[in-house]
Amino acid sequence: MTPAGHAATCAVAREPGGAFSLEQVELAGPRPDEIVVDVVASGMCHTDLLVRDSRPESLPAVLGHEGAGIVSETGSEVRGLAAGDKVVLSFPSCGSCIRCRTGRSAYCDSIAALKFRCARPDGSVATTDAQGRPVGDHFFGQSSFGTMAVAYARSAVRVPDDVDLRIAGPLACGVQTGAGTVLDVLRVGPGSSVAVFGAGSVGLCGIMAARAAGATTIVAVNRRAPRLRLAAEFGATHLVSPTDVDPVEAVRDATGGRGVDFAFETTGVPEVLTQAVRSLDSLGTCAYVGTGAPGQLAGIPMLEAMTKGLTVRGVLQGDSTPARTIPRLWDLHRRGLLPFDRLITHYRLDEINQAAVDTAAGDVVKPVLLMQ
Ligand SMILES: NC(=O)c1ccc[n+]([C@@H]2O[C@H](COP(=O)([O-])OP(=O)(O)OC[C@H]3O[C@@H](n4cnc5c(N)ncnc54)[C@H](O)[C@@H]3O)[C@@H](O)[C@H]2O)c1
Ligand SMILES: [Zn+2]
Ligand SMILES: [Zn+2]
Repeated sequence: MTPAGHAATCAVAREPGGAFSLEQVELAGPRPDEIVVDVVASGMCHTDLLVRDSRPESLPAVLGHEGAGIVSETGSEVRGLAAGDKVVLSFPSCGSCIRCRTGRSAYCDSIAALKFRCARPDGSVATTDAQGRPVGDHFFGQSSFGTMAVAYARSAVRVPDDVDLRIAGPLACGVQTGAGTVLDVLRVGPGSSVAVFGAGSVGLCGIMAARAAGATTIVAVNRRAPRLRLAAEFGATHLVSPTDVDPVEAVRDATGGRGVDFAFETTGVPEVLTQAVRSLDSLGTCAYVGTGAPGQLAGIPMLEAMTKGLTVRGVLQGDSTPARTIPRLWDLHRRGLLPFDRLITHYRLDEINQAAVDTAAGDVVKPVLLMQ
């Protein structure tokens, strides 16, 4: 028997560069491996806007990939989740490739299609608009810019009852990427030195995590003074504006001339990745998450990287395994060690276009849409 449909209000992206339109839609499902979620809140990140504006083949679609809500229905094969459970919707993965089977689902062989195709692997969607036309969904396995979402059960992480779902969504992407890269990829330790390039939601969570991990020198590099002030609040010990000084020199000055043990690049600007590598001490590691354009190259100083034994590492989603990483990060938050809620500005769902303008302008760090 096919489960009954659900009426929902969703923000539909119809044209590149166009506004989101709030529409009454019908959601079919869940399929056996899916859940239906009453979305409480969903964070907005640059990737939502990038897909709206540069992937016309995916539109029309419901975007949103930092959803948090309450399970209302489970598909027939779903185990470990039940109606009423609080969940954070994280990134999708296939569950059967070699990376998924060995606990490295951030690098699932099918990750790009599962995140960006805006349809299930068989090409179907759950959403139809008021005219009965299909609308793309399953973006990042969830499409959470709406009052209700049909999501893969595999992407959902059950969270403790004390979790405030109005703030929890960003754990699914931005927080997990920033804190996860610092804690699980770089493995920043007590007394170490870290430079974080870019102080947006990802970089600032990286700074919080570096402080929680006991780093004693934390250099924040960002062009905007208000972001540097935030960086200082969250643990940066040195603030560098690259419009005023050479950031590589500034990092060396902050570390007695040696350079940092760890560099974290979050801007996606090729020259900044070069600066991040050049700011390392010998045997240092640079992790980068900033999204470059397809085919974009960045320069690595060959001789310096070789003679200093440097490592440069691209990272997706902080290498996280969401079911393990998200509850762990919530524990840090609960203890006051990861105050990512202070990055959040709330908007109502009907204010989504203002949230998009403010995100693009960098006027807010982490917009979160409230659905009710
Ligand atoms: N790899 C992943 O899994 C993953 C996950 C989430 C986000 N991302 C990417 O990470 C990046 C950061 O995300 P975010 O939400 O923090 O974005 P953001 O725009 O909020 O932050 C980027 C910051 O970099 C600063 N910046 C830009 N150019 C700079 C320069 N030349 N020097 C110093 N600072 C500069 C900006 O002022 C901004 O504060 C984005 O590219 C995003 O697409 C990647
Ligand atoms: Zn996989
Ligand atoms: Zn994201």
